[in-house]
Amino acid sequence: MNYQWYPGHMTKAKRMMQEDLKLIDLVIELLDARAPMSSRNPDIDELGRNKSRIILLNKADLADKSCNAQWKAYFKEKGFWVQEVNARTGSGIKNIWPLIKEACREKLERDRKRGIIGRPVRAMVAGIPNVGKSTFINSFAGKACTKTGNKPGVTKGKQWIRLNKEVELLDTPGILWPRFDSEAVGEKLAMIGSIKDELIHMEELAATLITCLQKEYPALLQERYQIITNEDAYMTLEDICISRRCFQKGEVPDMVRASAMVLEDFRSGKLGNITLERPEEWL
Ligand code: G4P
Repeated sequence: MNYQWYPGHMTKAKRMMQEDLKLIDLVIELLDARAPMSSRNPDIDELGRNKSRIILLNKADLADKSCNAQWKAYFKEKGFWVQEVNARTGSGIKNIWPLIKEACREKLERDRKRGIIGRPVRAMVAGIPNVGKSTFINSFAGKACTKTGNKPGVTKGKQWIRLNKEVELLDTPGILWPRFDSEAVGEKLAMIGSIKDELIHMEELAATLITCLQKEYPALLQERYQIITNEDAYMTLEDICISRRCFQKGEVPDMVRASAMVLEDFRSGKLGNITLERPEEWL
C-alpha cells in the first residue's frame, strides 16, 4: 500500500501542530467512527499530553450503531470525553458544549485561582485528512459566529472563531498524519477515503473490503447486489459485475468499475452501517 504522506509532509504537519498547540487549551480530536483506531494519529497522545481532549466519533451515521457504543466506552475508559457526531447534519453537536466544560474544568479552576476571570477556552479541531474537520468546523461554528481576527502578540496570523463568550475555536483545523503501522491499517484508511484513490489498487482494495464484509456483515452484499456471496472475494466481485451489468466489450466483467462502485457504496453508506474494526482488536 502506498501512502500520500511521506516524511516531508509529516515533519511539516508536526511542526504546525506543535505551534498551534502552544495557543490552545483543548484539542477536539476527530476520528472516523468506521475505523476509529486506524484513523487516529499515532502521536496525538504525546503531542497533546498537556491539553484537555475531546474525542469525536465523526461519520457516526455511516458506522455500525453497536460498534459506536463500544468505541465510545473504549475511549471513555481511557479517560477521554467522547461524543458520536454527524458533522454533515450536525447531529450530536449540541452535546459537545457540556463536554467542553467538563474537559476544561481544571483549567477554568486554575484561571479562577489566579484571578483570571472570563478568559475563553481556546480550542482547535484536529484529525487526519478527510475525517470531516472542515465540515465539523462549519457545523459547530455555524453562521452566527464572528471571527475575532488576529490577536496582536499572542496569536499572530491566526483566525479565531468566537463560539460564545466561553469558547474560541481556531478556524483552521490541525491536519494530522495517519498511522503507518501496518498494511491492514493502510487498507482501512484507503477504504474510508483518507488515502487518495490514485494511490490505490482498486480491485485489491474492493476484494479486501468484500472479505471483511463477508465475515462481519454477510447479508449486506447479498441485499445490495442481489447475489449469493462466494467465499472467494474476486468471484463475488465478478458476480457483482454480472448482477449490475458492469461489462467491458464482449461481456467481459469490468472488475475495476465494479470495485469502484463497491467502494463508493461503502463510503456513502449505501451498503449499510458498517464499522471496519472493533475495540478488542486493539486491546
Ligand atoms: P477534512 O476537512 O477532514 O479533510 O474533511 P471534510 O470536512 O472535507 O470532509 C470530507 C468528506 O466527508 C466530505 O464529503 C464531507 O461532506 C464528509 N463528511 C464529513 N463529516 C461527515 C459525517 O459526519 N457524515 C457523513 N456521512 N459525511 C461526512 P465529500 O463527498 O468529500 O464532499 P461533499 O460532497 O460533502 O462536498
